[in-house]
Amino acid sequence: MIRYLLLLALAGAACAEKARFDNYRVHSVLPESEHHLRFLRELEENNDFLFWNDVRAVNASVHIMVPPHKTAQFQEIVDFVGLKSEIYINDVQKLIDAENNNPAARSGIFGWNAYYRLNDIYNWLDSLEAQYPGVVSVVVGGTTYEGREIRGVKVSYKAGNPGVFVEGGIHAREWISPATVTYILNQLLTSQDPAIRDIAENYDWYIFPSFNPDGYEYTHTTNRLWRKTRSRSSSLCYGADPNRNWGFHWMDGGASSSACSETYAGSSAFSEIEARSLSQYISTIADKLSVYLSFHSYSQYLLIPYGFSNAHISNYDTLMDIGKKAINSLSQRYGTKYVVGNIVDVIYVASGGSMDWVRGEYGTPITYTYELRDTGRNGFVLPAEQIIPTGEETLDSVLTILQEARSVI
Ligand SMILES: *[C@@H]1O[C@H](CO)[C@@H](O)[C@H](O)[C@H]1NC(C)=O
Ligand SMILES: [Zn+2]
Repeated sequence: MIRYLLLLALAGAACAEKARFDNYRVHSVLPESEHHLRFLRELEENNDFLFWNDVRAVNASVHIMVPPHKTAQFQEIVDFVGLKSEIYINDVQKLIDAENNNPAARSGIFGWNAYYRLNDIYNWLDSLEAQYPGVVSVVVGGTTYEGREIRGVKVSYKAGNPGVFVEGGIHAREWISPATVTYILNQLLTSQDPAIRDIAENYDWYIFPSFNPDGYEYTHTTNRLWRKTRSRSSSLCYGADPNRNWGFHWMDGGASSSACSETYAGSSAFSEIEARSLSQYISTIADKLSVYLSFHSYSQYLLIPYGFSNAHISNYDTLMDIGKKAINSLSQRYGTKYVVGNIVDVIYVASGGSMDWVRGEYGTPITYTYELRDTGRNGFVLPAEQIIPTGEETLDSVLTILQEARSVI
């Protein structure tokens, strides 16, 4: 019997189908009291519904995905508690089907009109090394649970530059993050704009499009909405949140000790090989880093440390000042509106993130975490047509940060 079940399980794994989200809706609900907030936090902890964004504050909408078979249950809950609810996405599967249907994705030429698989990104990084000898070198920042490389590039036009670290894709489903990071990398190498050439050539860049390659591949092959790593602990659930796993104020609020939670912090600090090996890599270059930029989606925020506390860090005023200038630059091109602030103030407590660790361990002066487009109408499933506009406006703000950083580093 046991052998039979094992065979069934193996067969199931071998022909595992892609998760589908037909008629899954995303509702935007509005907490209007502390009572509503407490209720929503409890609902999130139950893991009955997938929350697409965080429960933040009164009047800040919360986006909750509701499968068709739970529509009645959800409606009952919302009515019972008296929450205002609006449908943001009517059919998640339709959005997924439309997200990446550009033929460019299948043409074999890497670009920014479609989202790409990990190997396409890695092959492109390798091609840059060949194309820009002496400037681009491929670097390996770590290893994943499933044995993949965490591959990045170093871009250096001359010796002695201050270093900028660019991290993408730590959360697997946030596809706009790796796409934006590769967009920025490409511009640093190809742009003729003197301002871009200036930051490209007078900083050294360490650029990693995907900090969570196993998770990213899994979002392509199996479940578009996967967030975590793919490690296996003893429990029924896979993975930990790699942005709750870093060893600075680990499990100090806004992280879960439950393995099935989307924000499971892992069994210990750096239990995830991705966070552990990347932290070791960062340690080898930390004395060269003046700037650390982390890219997530979605919500249109520019966030400063820390996530475990909103106590003002030593250069809070400087980071806020530069941040305001950066989001102003970002808004110029397409009118995209961001909010800048401390993580706790803007979202909620979240401990164990990579930016907190870099800042806490090494005191890196200029550190920001982006939550890229949009504000929930597409959420994680941002249509590929928005990659280039997102890349353009984001680079506008990165330019401002690096220009402004010069006077303080
Ligand atoms: C929430 O919004 C309502 C209506 O705009 C307003 O009256 C109330 O003061 C707001 N509450 C908070 C805490 O922002
Ligand atoms: Zn994220």
